[in-house]
Amino acid sequence: MRESATDAEATVYLKEEINHEFARFEERSKPENFDPLPNIPTGRYIDDDFFALEQERIWSKTWLLAGHADEVPDIGSYKLWESSGTPILIVRGRDNQIRAFYNTCTHRGGPLVRQALGQEKVFVCKYHCWAFSLDGALNHIPDEHEFIAIDKSKRGLKPIRCEMFGRWIYVNRDPNAMPLDEFLGPLTHELADFEPDNLHFVTRYHFDLECNWKITMDAFQEVYHLKHIHPNTVDAAIDHRSASMALFPQGSSRMFVAAKTGETKFTSIPAQSPLEEGEQHEIVRSGSLSYNMFPNIVTPIGAYEFPYLQFWPTSKRTTRFEVTFFSRGDNVDPESNYWKDQIAGFNVILGEDNENLPWIQRSIESGGIDGIPLSYQERRIYHFHEFLDQVIGVDDIPENLRVEPRLSELQEDGKGQRLAS
Ligand SMILES: [Fe+2]
Repeated sequence: MRESATDAEATVYLKEEINHEFARFEERSKPENFDPLPNIPTGRYIDDDFFALEQERIWSKTWLLAGHADEVPDIGSYKLWESSGTPILIVRGRDNQIRAFYNTCTHRGGPLVRQALGQEKVFVCKYHCWAFSLDGALNHIPDEHEFIAIDKSKRGLKPIRCEMFGRWIYVNRDPNAMPLDEFLGPLTHELADFEPDNLHFVTRYHFDLECNWKITMDAFQEVYHLKHIHPNTVDAAIDHRSASMALFPQGSSRMFVAAKTGETKFTSIPAQSPLEEGEQHEIVRSGSLSYNMFPNIVTPIGAYEFPYLQFWPTSKRTTRFEVTFFSRGDNVDPESNYWKDQIAGFNVILGEDNENLPWIQRSIESGGIDGIPLSYQERRIYHFHEFLDQVIGVDDIPENLRVEPRLSELQEDGKGQRLAS
């Protein structure tokens, strides 16, 4: 297996792939060895039972990206993380290990912290002043004798699985979940060339959208929409006809799309970045590389920075769309002119998508569309939905809402599938 997906061999492979796709478009020839995909049932975006299944089986049982080590820099630094709907306390301990707990006093459920970020030597619940150390141990109960025979060693904060990839913090509420490394699979190799250990947190902001979270996920997994939604931005930079996909295990995937001729905003080094021209990775120079990490991350890889897009359901028909920027090097002041420009430019693109998406939700709710037919270029969306059903448990999903298994047998780790050969 290769060291990473972006080594010399993979660079050659990806360039062959995009040339193959260009040639196919030139001839208007159909993709080889690819049967049409069944429709995605529209009920998946609007059905109460399906939403309840997602709540029960996805958000509580998969690895979720909850933050970055830079957000809890010192001993006792904490983050109250609520994006997944559950209040979770993430804290750096005296041993420098980052741990996660329910933000819940084990007496009567008072919150340990109420601020998004902070630093404490000890967590004291404000309800009755039970006190917990940074590793979750209960070390003080006021008027302890009144409890008669309470065992403090059994009343520590309830832990949540917390593991790191690079300096990213992932949590999983399922104590029996597979290790994070195994879950991320080839993504750990894929991202290795982009120095995850050297990335720094810059800023996070969000948009609240009136659509199901999967409508947002779907929108960021294809480039078929570029000509129409992003004519003057993304479409001016990359050519959708070249799109090459790789489907990974665990519902994740990669997309690489060739740059149009000439230097573009996406492939060149940003003027104010500390990188020298030519220092960008060959793949980044050649086009747009983007990953989907199940269940809810999309990240387009830049020469100098990584925006991570995350889509959190706040209800069946609303989504919190979080954007987090990470940067190589120490240029991390979001108020600097560099970051103001980068973020403003990126938000123009996101605005083009975000204006469109609530309309899709309303269309689906209207009943004006009975099922969603996906093209070959849109197959990452199908792959994502197929794995979503696997995690939920296909047998528990009403038959009319299931996605028929089609693409899972086509996965390969490392190089990804190559259907068109
Ligand atoms: Fe878009």
